[in-house]
Amino acid sequence: MSAETPQLNHSDNKNNDTVPKNEAAWLLAQHGLLEVKEAPFTKPGAGEILVRNHAVAVNPIDWMIPYLGKRLFPWIKYPFVLGFDLAGKVVAIGKGVTNVKVGDRVLALAGGSVKQRNRAAEGAFQTYPIVLSHLTTVLPDHLSYVDAAVIPLGLSTAACGLFQKDALALNLPTIDTKPLNQWVVISGGATSVGCNAIQLAVAAGYSVVTTASPKNFNYVRSLGAAIVFDYNSKEIVNDMIVALEGKYIAGALSIGAGSTETCIDVLAQCEGRKFVANVSSAVSFDTIPEGRGITFPVILKLIPNILASSIKIWLKSRLKGVTAKFYDSSSMVDNEIGKYIFHDYLGKALSTGTFQAAPKPKIVGTSLHDIQGAFEIQRRGVSAAKVVVDLT
Ligand SMILES: NC(=O)c1ccc[n+]([C@@H]2O[C@H](COP(=O)([O-])OP(=O)(O)OC[C@H]3O[C@@H](n4cnc5c(N)ncnc54)[C@H](OP(=O)(O)O)[C@@H]3O)[C@@H](O)[C@H]2O)c1
Repeated sequence: MSAETPQLNHSDNKNNDTVPKNEAAWLLAQHGLLEVKEAPFTKPGAGEILVRNHAVAVNPIDWMIPYLGKRLFPWIKYPFVLGFDLAGKVVAIGKGVTNVKVGDRVLALAGGSVKQRNRAAEGAFQTYPIVLSHLTTVLPDHLSYVDAAVIPLGLSTAACGLFQKDALALNLPTIDTKPLNQWVVISGGATSVGCNAIQLAVAAGYSVVTTASPKNFNYVRSLGAAIVFDYNSKEIVNDMIVALEGKYIAGALSIGAGSTETCIDVLAQCEGRKFVANVSSAVSFDTIPEGRGITFPVILKLIPNILASSIKIWLKSRLKGVTAKFYDSSSMVDNEIGKYIFHDYLGKALSTGTFQAAPKPKIVGTSLHDIQGAFEIQRRGVSAAKVVVDLT
């Protein structure tokens, strides 16, 4: 089926009982709770794909948007449909889409929340989302929807920091890469972003030194990390500098609050590129109290911490001659690497087993009604796991 045969356009088929009903977990207002209600059935435009969703994953940003309201993603107009990570079956394709066909099983980065798209129809948390063809990958038969849904945002964030030309600009990953004799520091290896970053960097030919809790050392090694340190150790900076002596460092990707300072300290003392691509906020939001919206006392507590951490990082980077810059995965929608990563690399890498879906899914529900609860589970914290809702 193509855009020229829009049998599935709900508005065009009001009397056709066979047209499936679209539903979404709507965020009706900032600081609100999600409510499952009917959603419009949207016909895919040029370069777009309509998917029947089978699994979605939850990221920290998904619960932060309702919590922080207009302070984060101020362009969002409510009611809105959030969500970045999905896997499902292709129902219809728009003009110019050649990389997938109707019936294909795919994963995709849903771009609805990002400023360049800003469109509820493209939020992941609905039964029939629209996704962009260049951020969609056809799944190999062996990969289940719940496993595949863990990948898109973690992969995209890692790829932006590692490969974008204004970030670390590393060589791109391939499935038959040759080792380069260069190293990359990836702090936060057991995060979703980190699990993808380790594999991407290794597939691009780099050796990886990473950080995690000791219980996850073997896991991050299984993803390809050559050396791993405990990020809670007081000796971490010295230990990393000793381990990297005589090695050329192509830069660092810092994931997790507090990681950027460690990366600056390490790169300052090592041979190589003095550049940290950071993807996390200066302070952790994990400790903010549960509730439906940020309160004035919480803001009063957070702002001095954010300012102090940001100033510390700024001063440290200048004093030590290391550049530290923040990167946002929203650039994947229109940057120079998105199509390569999702079209040219990931499908082949998943088929050949050179790239694993990681971290492991933690399935916490089976319907759109379970996504609100999934937000709370993600917010309380996970370790080397991705919170997933199975919509099969
Ligand atoms: N800029 C963007 O576009 C973007 C997009 C996605 C995510 N992010 C950010 O990236 C970070 C990771 O997100 P995620 O979804 O991948 O997180 P996640 O999977 O929920 O992170 C959980 C993991 O964080 C690890 N961790 C916590 N603090 C750490 C630290 N100081 N150093 C190293 N590891 C630490 C823990 O490792 P152990 O279990 O081993 O202790 C745990 O496994 C968050 O700050 C998130 O906001 C940014």
